[in-house]
Amino acid sequence: MERSLVLIKPDAMERGLAGVIIGRLQGEGLKLVALKMLHMDRALAERHYAIHKDKPFYKDLVDYIISTPIVAAVFEGRGVVERIRELMGATDPTRAAAGTIRKDFGLDVQRNSTHASDSPENAEKEISLFFKENEVFD
Ligand code: RTP
Ligand code: MG
Repeated sequence: MERSLVLIKPDAMERGLAGVIIGRLQGEGLKLVALKMLHMDRALAERHYAIHKDKPFYKDLVDYIISTPIVAAVFEGRGVVERIRELMGATDPTRAAAGTIRKDFGLDVQRNSTHASDSPENAEKEISLFFKENEVFD
């Protein structure tokens, strides 16, 4: 079954929004199958964001994602990757559609409250960075 990794980023953690955001996804009928709070170290952040290592924002992004503890979650269901990206909205909150999580909670293009996997293949790679097999329930 298709799965997606969601991270509640530091800007949302600092404002106490983890439960609100996870609850919004559950309220859309999405099935939560794994959940944990952790403080990513630099090595994990660099692996998670390896795809962006040549981008100008890479170092800032890694510094940002390790700046506070975060919440990591896995949701499962048919089409869940695309559905969660729709619910989160565009990367830049000022361009995100009304009613999306980033429109409602995001602060700017970096501090955009959430990460969500962008393909089922990347989701499986990302999930394996954060969760052991026996930490995901279905
Ligand atoms: P995400 O991976 O976090 O779900 O976000 P996304 O697919 O919408 O965006 P992506 O292109 O994968 O970028 C990853 C994260 O990098 C930060 N970013 N900063 N300063 C900038 O121009 C810039 N562009 C992207 C954001 O935190 C973005 O979510
Ligand atoms: Mg991305």
